[in-house]
Amino acid sequence: MIAQSCMDISLASPLLGGLSPQTFMRRHWQKKPLLVRQAVPNAIDLVSRSQLVALAAHDEVESRLVVQRAGRWSLRQGPMARTAMPPFKQPQWTLLVQGLDLHLPAARTLLDRFRFVPDARLDDVMVSFATDGGGVGPHVDSYDVFLLQTQGRRRWRIGKVKAPELVPDVPLKILANFEPEQEFLLEPGDMLYLPPGWAHDGVAEGECMTCSIGFRAAGRDELGREVVQRMLDAADLDDRGPLYRDPTLAATHEPGRIPVALQGFAAQAVARLLADPNALDCALGEVLSEPKRGVWFDAEVQDIDASIGVRLDQRTRVLYDDGHVFINGESFRASGRDARMMRRLADRRALTATDVAALSEGARALLDDWLAAGWLQGAD
Ligand code: SIN
Ligand code: CO
Repeated sequence: MIAQSCMDISLASPLLGGLSPQTFMRRHWQKKPLLVRQAVPNAIDLVSRSQLVALAAHDEVESRLVVQRAGRWSLRQGPMARTAMPPFKQPQWTLLVQGLDLHLPAARTLLDRFRFVPDARLDDVMVSFATDGGGVGPHVDSYDVFLLQTQGRRRWRIGKVKAPELVPDVPLKILANFEPEQEFLLEPGDMLYLPPGWAHDGVAEGECMTCSIGFRAAGRDELGREVVQRMLDAADLDDRGPLYRDPTLAATHEPGRIPVALQGFAAQAVARLLADPNALDCALGEVLSEPKRGVWFDAEVQDIDASIGVRLDQRTRVLYDDGHVFINGESFRASGRDARMMRRLADRRALTATDVAALSEGARALLDDWLAAGWLQGAD
């Protein structure tokens, strides 16, 4: 069965402490923290300690190990075997595993509960396991994050920091001038939302596991560079274009000076490259829907069984704008009923058999390609 219900963003939700997604976004998002007791009462089932340790050994999974010993911090990047980690009875260490939503269906389902925020802003589900006293030290993240306690207890201390100063010579970004203003002890199921720029320090009280539902925020210059690069890659630039002409050029006694008209010609050339709004929208959608680093799809040829519908692989990213649909870094023009169905596929991450039957032959052929690439699966 395909879940057809999209969440009602005006309904009060226990996930947000009785606020509706609309109210949460208005009052808290990017503005102020929110503590929610029992936001996800069954959070304990998300992932076990042994599953997390096993994931950290995989090449395609991003993980880090942070150990504190005798007042010193050490950091090791994964992949790593269990034998590379300290014993569980040793205090003050933590294992952090990124991208659980790519690997565990339960983590993907959890992430789906936060889809009142656009997918273009969602990053991933990270889970940390810590022994008593473990944590990553006081720090500031530049991203919004929901910190959900899944097992054991963790004490969070948070505070606003105006001019962060870092502890020198440690392999982690640890704040030297952290002044906590509030403190919360989180039990399994409790959740703390923090906007970017709020300093926080989470210390395990006994063994604990914490899940971070993280968001991404594009850096202006980084996004600009990526989008322009895509536009250049897509533009047909084999032709040199019309040549620069200067029939009115006068004799110069400053031969080293670049002619102003040539500067104008270059400015026009660049503006022309970037002026096509369609090319810009396409490039942006492709950049934003690019799969996460390390994601490989298993290509297998299957026929769509229209009687059961399709759903997206949990690692597939689908976004859309008014004229296009973007899937895993590729863009397609879409209009009419096909566009409506492709948007439904993006919003619900699935299409029913009836939806599939409504697609044009061309759109069905695209679904076939995406199935063959391993981006979709037949729904069961
Ligand atoms: C942790 O889970 O230990 C760290 C999460 C965070 O501070 O962002
Ligand atoms: Co943090």
